[in-house]
Amino acid sequence: MATNWTPNGWRNFEGLQMPDYPDAAKLADTEQLLSTYPPLVFAGEARSLKEDLAQVSKGNGFLLQGGDCAESFAEFHPNNIRDTFRVILQMAVVLTYASKMPIVKLGRMAGQFAKPRSAPTETQDGVEMPSYRGDIINGIEFEAGRRQPDPDRMVRAYNQAAATLNLLRAFSTGGYANLQQVHGWTHDFMSRSPWAKKFEEMADRIGEALAFMEACGINPDTVPQLKATSFYTSHEALLLPYEEALTRQDSLTGEWYDTSAHFLWIGDRTRFEGSAHVEFLRGIGNPIGMKCGPSLKPDDLLKMLDTLNPGREAGRITLISRFGHDKVENGLAPLVRAVKKEGHPVIWSCDPMHGNVIKADSGYKTRPFERILAEVRGFFAVHRAEGTFAGGIHCEMTGQNVTECTGGAVAITDAALGDRYHTHCDPRLNAAQSLELAFLLAEMLNQELSERAREAA
Ligand code: TRP
Ligand code: MN
Repeated sequence: MATNWTPNGWRNFEGLQMPDYPDAAKLADTEQLLSTYPPLVFAGEARSLKEDLAQVSKGNGFLLQGGDCAESFAEFHPNNIRDTFRVILQMAVVLTYASKMPIVKLGRMAGQFAKPRSAPTETQDGVEMPSYRGDIINGIEFEAGRRQPDPDRMVRAYNQAAATLNLLRAFSTGGYANLQQVHGWTHDFMSRSPWAKKFEEMADRIGEALAFMEACGINPDTVPQLKATSFYTSHEALLLPYEEALTRQDSLTGEWYDTSAHFLWIGDRTRFEGSAHVEFLRGIGNPIGMKCGPSLKPDDLLKMLDTLNPGREAGRITLISRFGHDKVENGLAPLVRAVKKEGHPVIWSCDPMHGNVIKADSGYKTRPFERILAEVRGFFAVHRAEGTFAGGIHCEMTGQNVTECTGGAVAITDAALGDRYHTHCDPRLNAAQSLELAFLLAEMLNQELSERAREAA
């Protein structure tokens, strides 16, 4: 357990990217109220995830983390939850087949509400207002009343997270995650999609494997593992008053866990020495992530790892790199080398979204699919060269048929971005682009697997 740590100790450190609540008494009352609410996850689940991630850090699994850039109150709907969950599962089947390894499924869902911003205020037509920081903090509408941070929003976010998590749990174990069914969706989707030709062969092979198993008597009725899956939740631990209120001492081990999600990460803008966010995360028992961008120096990363994982526990730390398609090879390699040399057990996961944002001619913020893929390719190349494992992918995606990222096999053009651009924050991959990414990742994992086999021979 972390030494000299308390759930509210972060308050003595420098907390960036958090709102100034105008009504301090209301904030304190809300924190008090939330601290009496039931935990959203159980410490034992966070420990199971950590064990699964420990396997990933050893090259015996792959992490698939995905979901909205930001969840919103307006788009809270069972169909949105279902569709995103379904696409993550479809991706997971493809990746399981290609890698021959278990895939750890981690939603960027049921709590991903708070957003770091590049400026504290926003000016429109000469009017200045606080920036939108996510629905858990203030409203996206550019109106004075809406942009004021309001603690009540934390309670609403808690309730939405609880209901979302409840549905995800029901889907995971109640029959919706049935492997044959999930593959059936992919199969149907591909027969309707013109781009599918490219991936038909792999999809057919998955179908054959399932049919073979069925003929041998292995089906979802006889083998319960085929009917259910483990699905975990995660979000950026940004709004510390909320995270603190949901931090509880596990009655079994005496350890502290942030029970707002199984996995929490620290963003690229809030990780630095003396940061309140680092101080908070170092004391919770959950597995945690840290975003690594171009500004991070190898020595600073090692110091951070000593702070966040002094016991060098495998599965505790996932390093999520986000460099940009043209910077990943040069930027990531020194970090990977330093961590390997020092012997810290980490999972390396690739966020190919955040370093690849551009402004399209149409004025929309977008991410070209080709650049996303280029960053993933660069990420795999670095790990191949350094002799480390490409352990995971972190993507902003939705099960909806949005038009937010350009490109993909059913090419979305700049001009089409306006058709269905719905994100509350960053552009997300749509269902088809997500699945396409999974097939392309599958090819890379497959290649890695044969290289490992060749080296072992
Ligand atoms: N239980 C296994 C797993 O989660 C197999 C499985 C069942 C599965 N349903 C799934 C895998 C849906 C991926 C997606 O890995
Ligand atoms: Mn984002």
